[in-house]
Amino acid sequence: MRTITVVVFVLLSALVLVSGFASATDPEKRVKECKHQCKQHKGYTEQEREICRSQCEKEFEESGGGRRHEDPEKRLRECRESCPEGRGQTRALCRFRCQQKYGQGKGDVGGGKYYYDVEEEEKEEMFGEGGEEREETPYVFRDEHFLTKARSQHGRVDILQRFTEKSELLKGIENYRIGVLEANPQTFVNPGHFDADGVLFVAQGRGTFTIIREDRGRTTSRSEIKRHSFNIETGDVIRVHAGTPAYIVNKHESQKLVIINFIRPVNAPGTFEAFHGAGGENPESFFRAFSPELLAAAFKVDRESLQRIFQQQQEGTIMKASKEQIRALTHGEEGGGIWPFGGESSGPFNLLHRRPVQRNKYGQLFEADPNEFEQLEDLDLMVSFANFTQGAMAGPFYNSKATKIAYVVDGEGYFEMACPHVSSTRKGRRGQSGRAEGSRQGPSYGQVKSRLTRGMVFIVPAGHPVATVASTNSNLQVLCFEVNARDNFKFQLAGKNNVMSKMESQALELGFGVPAREVEKIFRNQNEEFFFPGPEMQQQRRRGYSDV
Ligand SMILES: *[C@@H]1O[C@H](CO)[C@@H](O)[C@H](O)[C@H]1NC(C)=O
Repeated sequence: MRTITVVVFVLLSALVLVSGFASATDPEKRVKECKHQCKQHKGYTEQEREICRSQCEKEFEESGGGRRHEDPEKRLRECRESCPEGRGQTRALCRFRCQQKYGQGKGDVGGGKYYYDVEEEEKEEMFGEGGEEREETPYVFRDEHFLTKARSQHGRVDILQRFTEKSELLKGIENYRIGVLEANPQTFVNPGHFDADGVLFVAQGRGTFTIIREDRGRTTSRSEIKRHSFNIETGDVIRVHAGTPAYIVNKHESQKLVIINFIRPVNAPGTFEAFHGAGGENPESFFRAFSPELLAAAFKVDRESLQRIFQQQQEGTIMKASKEQIRALTHGEEGGGIWPFGGESSGPFNLLHRRPVQRNKYGQLFEADPNEFEQLEDLDLMVSFANFTQGAMAGPFYNSKATKIAYVVDGEGYFEMACPHVSSTRKGRRGQSGRAEGSRQGPSYGQVKSRLTRGMVFIVPAGHPVATVASTNSNLQVLCFEVNARDNFKFQLAGKNNVMSKMESQALELGFGVPAREVEKIFRNQNEEFFFPGPEMQQQRRRGYSDV
């Protein structure tokens, strides 16, 4: 009897302890503190302490942080809302943890279907549909796949790992890399050049971009080099040839400058480096690799004065600049202009000021293709930007020749792609007809599906049908670098102008094995082109109509 009373008493105390720490944020810390209190409790025997300690753990597990009596749905929602806005993976992971903690569907809390569904959704968010652990698709890259090249309180430079490190399926794009530069307000990005060609896209902010480049004189065969500075703003596309010295100023008072880089190394496939002349210890100046007597001779100065200038810099690649310095660096720049109507053909042009190639109320698609833009010609690159209205979708469609490297600039959503190279993760779809698996011939298409959040990269190989859907909470903005783009065509598989709607009824009848009218009814129903209302948007509408 006494034991029972003690146990009950200890349990109650543990509950009090647990809830007492409910305000602390880190759950692990809370358990630790709870256990510590058990230990400190003077009146407990060792056995009671043990019960108390295990109860600390159990309470947290079961009640999801000691808030047992609150509405579980609310707890889950609050936890999810407390997750950071920031870049994809962190947020998804945080939300996934909330789900594991508060929405487990065990015991008396959270046993409803709602929790199960959400859990599935979170799993999908993390791993793609049906993914258990990190059985990742080869086509999706998140935060953890970026390597930090430079990071300081003033900004960061991250480079995505080589595509072939993830999968041999990406061999076709192994010579390309993706980088992200973020410079805080009122900063300077140290001058340097790369052994790589680059195309820069300004995803956010304003700044000044300066390059030193060759100016071939019209009248003489001698070429000279000259400094060119450009105002840059959101939507600008800038071609930087390999080896071109360049530097960047973020002159904005409060806004970050974010630049997404498409990089094609010129020395070795997939590998490149930055070369800083101006520098010291950090960034290191390449001049330091030369012997002092050689440099002294080359510059015609004494060795002592040389030593000083190559030892001072410690600030890193991105550094704070004073207002005066920024003013001096940003005066007299050339206007970016919309090439070919302003500025030079080699200057930046603004992708978002062009006329969209697709536009309706569900989204806009902007494109700059290599047939039209000389600067993109030798890279055989198309740069495009898709802006999805919240809840809208695009596709399915496929690129005839180009492989798309897509970067999620902002917003949330998901994409689905049919791929013959990955095994199907879709459950319950196949084999429903009862036919033996063995009797099927030809390829089988796996579904690649992933949640998309800001900062993620996904790849869509040529010929692979793909569709992208924006979340119902936010617009989705996707920047695409499409390589092998010359004479590429986007074949649409739904909507006005879809491939199937151009085939003869006999071809459809034979192809699908059902009467042509049935097929046509499906493929001719959608009147919009390219961008459509997404699945949830459609459902909401249908519900809306039936309510009336
Ligand atoms: C995207 O579309 C929305 C309207 O749906 C618009 O307000 C926004 O400015 C667009 N963004 C870009 C970058 O075009």
